Amino acid sequence: MNIREILNQRFAQAMLAAGIPADCAPHVAPSKNPQFGDYQANGAMGAAKAMGRKPRDIAQEILDQVTLDDMADKTEIAGPGFINVHLRPEWMAEQLKQQDSKARHNDDAQTIVVDYSSPNLAKEMHVGHLRSTIIGDSLARVLEFMGHSVIRQNHVGDWGTQFGMLTAELEEQLGQNQAASMALKDLEQFYQQAKKHFDDDPAFADKARDYVVKLQSGDAKLLELWEKFRDVSLEHGEELYQALGVTLKRDDVKGESFYNDDLANVVSELKAQGLAVEDDGAIVVFLQELADKEGNPSVVIIQKKGGGYLYATTDLAAMRHRVGELKADRIMYFIDARQSLHMKQVFTLGRKAGFVSDDVSLEHHAFGTMMGEDGTPFKTRSGGTVKLADLTTEAVERATALVESKNPDLNESERAEIGRKVGIGAVKYADLSKTRTNDYIFSWESMLSFEGNTAPYLQYAYARIQSIFRRAEVSADDINAELQLNAPEEQALALKLLRFEEAIEQVAKEAYPHILCTYLYEAASLYMKFYEACPILKDGVSEADKMSRLQLCAATASILRTGLDLLGIETMEKM
Ligand code: ARG
Repeated sequence: MNIREILNQRFAQAMLAAGIPADCAPHVAPSKNPQFGDYQANGAMGAAKAMGRKPRDIAQEILDQVTLDDMADKTEIAGPGFINVHLRPEWMAEQLKQQDSKARHNDDAQTIVVDYSSPNLAKEMHVGHLRSTIIGDSLARVLEFMGHSVIRQNHVGDWGTQFGMLTAELEEQLGQNQAASMALKDLEQFYQQAKKHFDDDPAFADKARDYVVKLQSGDAKLLELWEKFRDVSLEHGEELYQALGVTLKRDDVKGESFYNDDLANVVSELKAQGLAVEDDGAIVVFLQELADKEGNPSVVIIQKKGGGYLYATTDLAAMRHRVGELKADRIMYFIDARQSLHMKQVFTLGRKAGFVSDDVSLEHHAFGTMMGEDGTPFKTRSGGTVKLADLTTEAVERATALVESKNPDLNESERAEIGRKVGIGAVKYADLSKTRTNDYIFSWESMLSFEGNTAPYLQYAYARIQSIFRRAEVSADDINAELQLNAPEEQALALKLLRFEEAIEQVAKEAYPHILCTYLYEAASLYMKFYEACPILKDGVSEADKMSRLQLCAATASILRTGLDLLGIETMEKM
């Protein structure tokens, strides 16, 4: 249920009935100030312009036609011709009772490929992978909730030059009687060893280069080594997904290697279409569409001089697979802003080559960099890259200590569980709540604060509602009371809860999870105001008021839990 859409429909009908041309939109929007009602229809101005008439006259004619008696108790014309709509509390109460937290059915469901996380497997996952992983996961959850068919794709970097070096190193270490699980226990260390070996020993470097070629042409022995490495690396990733509460599974992995057999086809098709040409031994595409200011075309290399394929080649093959095999209507890529040019090139070329038709939407949802408190990219104290595994461990440790200091009565297992949920939730929320396209500063202190727009604040609001139910000795699910929205605080909260749908629809469309965060934060804050203004379990509160308010508490808790779940954040009954 989306109030804005209902009102848009009602006003559109009224405008037609008033003889206004059908291409004039009603322009319904939430009011900025409650003084001007809950929603405004601002279409009279545009219609008046199109018809050469006075906006206030048009507004009056629309108002004469519109049927809102069931949902509004007051309408008025304001300013140049705004129509203010004040919603009826009884109508809101009824809508709120119908609102549920089940995934939505969608008559216009799309097949949506979400490409996210997608780390390079050569190294351990580090903080640079965090944003793609959690923003992408939240979008996958939201789109699924909206009834779309979501296909997660973890486009891991499991192919390419580095794998020659890594398989050569693994071969040597296994030759020294090391078990693969031992050799690869610490991927970061293994990578460093291989790299050092490569830099210091020319014979090894030659071997590594030889191995890349052999591997890419399907040598069985090298494929076996490669698979061992890949397997350990994927397992490491899965442990992190599990710790972070990220929904990616092994089945979602379709890495660069998956497209290997198709890469030659991609190149030959682009050549046949006259899009790709030979240039100094390499195969390249010149894109005039993306020319620089001087008019020089943008250059995309799709095959190197020695025959090797590149990142763009794999992405083109992946794109064709997603459209052709997976039947995607929409493909969303969650990748660092620094890869914007690459994405533009691939999108432009994919369309030109006819791999993707115009009705399929290609979207690069870029994000900024996670910064340390000194304003430079987030690093360890000694300047190294922060491993994601260390970050999640630290988050849980810090949160557990915090939870213990706030509530010393918790037993050991409660403390551990709450600490985990708060710590992981805080890290994720701190990221998701910032405008995706900006850089943001990573700060333990602000993300773990119980005040302000943070995960602990929202989790605490949820837990507090649960404690009210415990004290009232009723279960939130069982309450079926008449909901009466009398106090302004009750009405403001109810309206906010009804606007959940608008928030998630906007997130689904624009892929900005911070919209949902802001929504939840505002809802929790309105709840706190309601809680202060409207006593629930105090002596002297009538049974009807008590039950109605408990009903509002239940609706709030349900929205908070559903909303946090769409962000991939867990709630708890107490904290
Ligand atoms: N593996 C790449 C990296 O770590 C990201 C891949 C993103 N997805 C894609 N289809 N290009 O930079």
